[in-house]
Amino acid sequence: MVVRKAVIPAAGLGTRVLPATKAVPKELLPLADTPTIQYIVGEAAASGIEQITFVTSRTKRAIEDHFDEAPELRAALEIKGDPKRLAAIMRPVTLAAYCYVRQQRPLGLGHAVLCARPIIGEETFGVLLGDDLVDNDADPCLKQLIRVHERHGGCVLAVMRVPHAEVSRYGVVSLGERVEPGVHQITDLVEKPKLEEAPSDLIVIGRYVLTPSVFAALERTQAGAGGEIQLTDALCALIQSGERVFACEFKGKRYDTGDPVGLLTTSIAYALKRPDLAPGVIAYLKTLDLG
Ligand code: UTP
Repeated sequence: MVVRKAVIPAAGLGTRVLPATKAVPKELLPLADTPTIQYIVGEAAASGIEQITFVTSRTKRAIEDHFDEAPELRAALEIKGDPKRLAAIMRPVTLAAYCYVRQQRPLGLGHAVLCARPIIGEETFGVLLGDDLVDNDADPCLKQLIRVHERHGGCVLAVMRVPHAEVSRYGVVSLGERVEPGVHQITDLVEKPKLEEAPSDLIVIGRYVLTPSVFAALERTQAGAGGEIQLTDALCALIQSGERVFACEFKGKRYDTGDPVGLLTTSIAYALKRPDLAPGVIAYLKTLDLG
C-alpha cells in the first residue's frame, strides 16, 4: 500500500529542556536558524509523504504558525528585496499539506498517535517523532522503512544498536526471523527495561511505519512505563495477536534533540553540513582549548 500520510507527535511537555520549553515548543528550538521539526517535515516530504498531521497542544500553537504563510514578513522581505530569506520563510509552507489535532493532556506517545486516528483513517502511515533526527539526505530514514513495508507488509520500526548501559532509556526489541539483510521480524518489545531484563541492545528510535490496526490496539492499551500510554505496548499486543512487526536497522546518523546536550551537539553537526555556516563554526571551534 502506498504510504502518503504521516503523524508527527509534538504535544509532549519537553521537560528535559526547561526552561527553554516553558513557552516555546521543543520541536521549534532551532538548529542554527532552522527548527528541528522543519528537518523532520523535510524528511517526510522526501520520503513521499503528502499529508502531515501534527499532534499539538495548548503550548504548541507556534508550530501551526511556522508551517503557515506569514504575509507581513513576506511583504517586508519583498520590499527589502531579500529573495533568499523570502524562499526560507516559504519553504516550510510548501513541503506538504498539513493537518492539526490537539492532544488535550500529555498521556503518552501512544495516546498522541491515537489522537490522529480520525485523520489517518484506514491507511498505513508514517510516524516521525518531533525531537529525533536521522541524517541521510540520499536515502531518508522513513523512506527506508516504507520500502520494507512495501516488500513485507506489516508495521516497520527503525532500530539501532546502543551501548548496553543505555538501553533502559528506550524501547528495546527482541529479534526473530531475518527477512532480508538488516530487517528482522520482532518477537517482543519492552519499554524502558531494567538493564538485566533488556532482551537486546537494539532500541527503537523515532521513526515508524504503522498499519491502521495499531489504533484498535492503542484503544485497548492501559498506561504503562512512566504512567503513559506507550506505543510500544500497543505494538507488543499486535505482535501477540499474530501481526507482523519488523525491525529495520536503518542507514543514517541519528540525533536526539530532546535534551540540552543533544540539542547543542545536533546544532553544531547540522551547522557543519551548511556551506554558509560551517566556516564560521569551524573557526570558532578551533579557538577552543579542549585539552
Ligand atoms: P518524549 O518523551 O521524548 O518528549 O516524547 P517529551 O515528553 O516532550 O519530553 P520530556 O521527557 O518531558 O523532556 C517523544 C515525542 O512524543 C511527543 C513529544 O512531543 C515528542 O516529540 N509526545 C510525547 C506527545 O506528543 N504526547 C505525549 O503525551 C508524549
